[in-house]
Amino acid sequence: MKLASVPITLAQCAKTFRGTRVLEPLDLRIGAGETLVLLGPSGCGKTTTLRMIAGLETPDAGGRIAFGDEDVTALPIEKRQVGMVFQSYALFPNLTVRGNIGYGLKIRRMAAETARQRVDELLAMMRLTAHADKPIDQLSGGQRQRVALARALAVQPRVLLLDEPLTALDARLRDTLRSEMNTLLRELGITTVYVTHDQAEAMELGDRIVVMSAGRIEQIGSPRDIYYRPANRTVAQFVGTINRLAGERRDGMLTTTGGAVPLPSVLSTAQDSAAHEIFFRPEDAYLADPASAQLRGHVESTAFLGERTRLTIGGAAPDALLIDVAGRVELARGTPVGLSIAQDALIALS
Ligand SMILES: Nc1ncnc2c1ncn2[C@@H]1O[C@H](COP(=O)(O)OP(=O)(O)OP(=O)(O)O)[C@@H](O)[C@H]1O
Ligand SMILES: [Mg+2]
Repeated sequence: MKLASVPITLAQCAKTFRGTRVLEPLDLRIGAGETLVLLGPSGCGKTTTLRMIAGLETPDAGGRIAFGDEDVTALPIEKRQVGMVFQSYALFPNLTVRGNIGYGLKIRRMAAETARQRVDELLAMMRLTAHADKPIDQLSGGQRQRVALARALAVQPRVLLLDEPLTALDARLRDTLRSEMNTLLRELGITTVYVTHDQAEAMELGDRIVVMSAGRIEQIGSPRDIYYRPANRTVAQFVGTINRLAGERRDGMLTTTGGAVPLPSVLSTAQDSAAHEIFFRPEDAYLADPASAQLRGHVESTAFLGERTRLTIGGAAPDALLIDVAGRVELARGTPVGLSIAQDALIALS
């Protein structure tokens, strides 16, 4: 199925509900065919942003939304040509799979034969052909999710809006559908805004991720930017796990409880200070001989996670450090360990 896609521009879009501002004025540009993920904790304004793009909410005065060159700010949802999937799917329980997928075509009075062909195509695409005539309540969660997606795509939208479409599913199914969704979105090439609070989903699906908190954009960037170059603590703590090394900076080194870590030149040019802190990800430290390692500590606890083991190391820094090691490492509680951190993996945060 070939879909047209348009870029979306939000300019100074704020939202106030009954005197409470839940979204600060936000500017956002989504490229044609891009998948943009809105990621952030509950209540940060993801759904509100999505609903403004859909035409289900109007931005406060002064906000503008455009699809390509067309200003759609005042256009209601049915005139925006958007396909939307809600967290709850909102399928029609009294209609069959076919009836649900074709619903939008029926109310648009598309010729029956053309509509039937379109629905058949979507049934095949979503691997639902065998279930076409079943009522919705006989489908599994994953199948319902695919019906909701097919229904959104049936009207050939120019923008696809997805609000936590996988959240209702159990973990294993969610993983499978996430990678199916990834393939599908690349194939369709449709401009997509995808809302989630799940960072793994955001990483896999987003061309770019917008990290939001409390009605504001904290950072916009590629998944790698967000993970390796978080703009601030809020982003670093929300996306992945991060360790803090607090200590004193002197002569290009950060001295902390269990030793000293050389700072990369970009971080060490600032003036020396009594108090300083840097950050790193659990997978960027490695175990080393305590005699020559940068930091020394001891194993406080271990969590075997299958493909890796997460160690909690005490004594190396003021806070316990979480370190991921691959392979068949078994370390008893209390074992003294040495730790070193790849220099280019150190992150400075404001
Ligand atoms: N119709 C409404 N009237 C009043 N307040 C609202 C309305 N819709 C949303 N809000 C408030 O706006 C804020 C943002 O809500 P929103 O639904 O956009 O959050 P979210 O990021 O989608 O959260 P979640 O992950 O829980 O779905 C919340 O504080 C919410 O209570
Ligand atoms: Mg929401």
